[in-house]
Amino acid sequence: MDDVEEIYLPSRNQHQTVSKSSDHHWVSVTHNRLSKRFKISIGVCAVIGVVIFLLVLIVPTLTNNKSTFFTTTTNTVINTTTQTISNSTISTSTTTTSTSTTSTSTASILTTTTSSSTSTSSTTPTSTSTTSTSTSRTTTTTTTSTSTSTSTSTSSTTSTSTTTSSTISSTTAPRGWSNASRMNNARAGHTASVLPNGEVLIAGGNNNVSYSSSTELYDPATGNWTFTGSMNYARTQFTATVLENGKVFVSGGYYNDSWLNSAELYDPLTRTWTLANNMSVERHQHEASLFGNRTVLITGGANTLGDLNSAELYDLLTGNWFSTIAMHYRRAVHTATVLVNGQVLVAGGVQSGSFLKSAELYDLSTGMWTMTGNMNFERWQHTATVLPNGKVLVAGGLGYYYSNGYLINAELYDPLTGTWTNTASMNYPRGKHTASILKNGNVLVTGGYNGIDFTNTAELYDFVTETWTIADRMFDGRYWHTASVLTSDIVLVTGGARFSDYLDGAELY
Ligand SMILES: *[C@@H]1O[C@H](CO)[C@@H](O)[C@H](O)[C@H]1NC(C)=O
Ligand SMILES: *[C@@H]1O[C@H](CO)[C@@H](O)[C@H](O)[C@H]1NC(C)=O
Ligand SMILES: *[C@@H]1O[C@H](CO)[C@@H](O)[C@H](O)[C@H]1NC(C)=O
Ligand SMILES: *[C@@H]1O[C@H](CO)[C@@H](O)[C@H](O)[C@H]1NC(C)=O
Ligand SMILES: *[C@@H]1O[C@H](CO)[C@@H](O)[C@H](O)[C@H]1NC(C)=O
Ligand SMILES: *[C@@H]1O[C@H](CO)[C@@H](O)[C@H](O)[C@H]1NC(C)=O
Ligand SMILES: *[C@@H]1O[C@H](CO)[C@@H](O)[C@H](O)[C@H]1NC(C)=O
Ligand SMILES: *[C@@H]1O[C@H](CO)[C@@H](O)[C@H](O)[C@H]1NC(C)=O
Repeated sequence: MDDVEEIYLPSRNQHQTVSKSSDHHWVSVTHNRLSKRFKISIGVCAVIGVVIFLLVLIVPTLTNNKSTFFTTTTNTVINTTTQTISNSTISTSTTTTSTSTTSTSTASILTTTTSSSTSTSSTTPTSTSTTSTSTSRTTTTTTTSTSTSTSTSTSSTTSTSTTTSSTISSTTAPRGWSNASRMNNARAGHTASVLPNGEVLIAGGNNNVSYSSSTELYDPATGNWTFTGSMNYARTQFTATVLENGKVFVSGGYYNDSWLNSAELYDPLTRTWTLANNMSVERHQHEASLFGNRTVLITGGANTLGDLNSAELYDLLTGNWFSTIAMHYRRAVHTATVLVNGQVLVAGGVQSGSFLKSAELYDLSTGMWTMTGNMNFERWQHTATVLPNGKVLVAGGLGYYYSNGYLINAELYDPLTGTWTNTASMNYPRGKHTASILKNGNVLVTGGYNGIDFTNTAELYDFVTETWTIADRMFDGRYWHTASVLTSDIVLVTGGARFSDYLDGAELY
């Protein structure tokens, strides 16, 4: 444990509020190796949530095309084992539109869905029917394949069966992890943004010696990583928001013992970064929430003065910042989640060393913050994910009630009642993990820190049954990493840290 703490020193300083550390200074990152608390994964999750929300908004236009949409197939197939995937058998599942509208919508937006499954031989011809989240655990081998289509693969051998998990709604056949190619740089505290063209933009972060301004793109078609310009500022624990026009907006962060007020925009067409106007204050470990095509809301975070309750709005049209009313509580490493009704739910976080259970709502039309129900547990370093039913799943984080403070529990926020209810606990405690919503509406949680170790565990939350199931473990334990849902529904996990070991590795689920 001494070793752990020794190695983990920078991180501990980042946590500074953990009981084992008495210093309450934000600033006290020794050796300026790491920046402060890890919020990035949370930020990324928020970004993903925002993106999904936006996608949901777009849905109605797409739903008209639904049938044709799902029958298209891309022939790009990622084989991992023996398996052929062919167009055929499209017919069966088409009608699966059942399930909740939102989940279909998320599915329909994304151009491709993974249909995994397909059995090599044997197989009972279970054509799993639609029912939303039903897992079709029919067979052994799983391979992920990017193919749209409700359809699926006729299995190579005889078999009358066309196993298909009805893609539209669920497609939950068992999946596993495979290594993606490595990033060019090891990094933690970075961001990952899925661009409209399906590429993933990785930006910034830090390793054990320096902060990074480098950015690189992951091309899902080739699996290649390529550098793509550098930000004007190196930064870690900042926010990145994918805008409707395909640009990526980053704000704040931490670098070399200083906090950033700068913001930048990435243009995927020119593959360049340009500075935007500065925020009113420096901050890292804050959150960014996107409203439509016009406004980004920045909330809280921390700088040398401590945790912040201030909020500001960036006008994407004019490039100007506007202050808005401050939150009721100062918060950093909180979550900010755009709800289906357009409000932003801010929950938890840390304030001067105490952990928050309070939550508040921001309404852009009034510019007002309103307190909503408290969570049942104080937490920061947690994740918050909007489910297809509009509820928000909050999971894990660092609190007061579990071994080493890392929480195993999860709770649901119902925007209709403004209340939180406990849902099933995860199988493993964790903080600074990731949570990604899959096309079937289920939530994949990966990695994180549990007070002792950097876990490689992963688990899935089924929003219909409100239960967790353990998924395969990642190859590497990691926290402060990112997880991005590709258009294929494959999840790309990148980087992160494990003790003082900073990872360039990436994995696909
Ligand atoms: C898929 O597997 C088949 C047969 O093993 C192989 O011919 C094909 O090249 C593979 N496709 C990809 C994209 O790896
Ligand atoms: C797959 O389906 C598309 C559209 O239905 C068709 O154009 C294409 O030829 C099919 N490919 C194969 C290999 O059957
Ligand atoms: C994946 O990469 C990790 C190292 O990051 C390695 O330990 C593991 O063996 C790799 N797995 C496979 C199947 O290559
Ligand atoms: C940083 O990490 C690299 C790779 O793990 C290692 O070789 C190097 O010694 C580390 N440097 C410091 C200062 O810890
Ligand atoms: C990208 O990947 C393809 C196929 O995997 C490979 O042939 C090509 O050389 C790669 N390009 C770069 C720039 O790495
Ligand atoms: C950041 O800190 C590193 C390590 O102390 C130092 O080498 C570097 O010059 C610093 N960069 C700036 C811009 O201050
Ligand atoms: C933004 O702030 C930095 C200092 O943090 C300053 O050097 C820079 O000039 C500012 N940029 C603008 C456009 O005000
Ligand atoms: C922004 O969104 C509004 C309403 O959603 C729309 O009317 C407007 O055309 C959009 N502007 C751009 C530049 O996309």
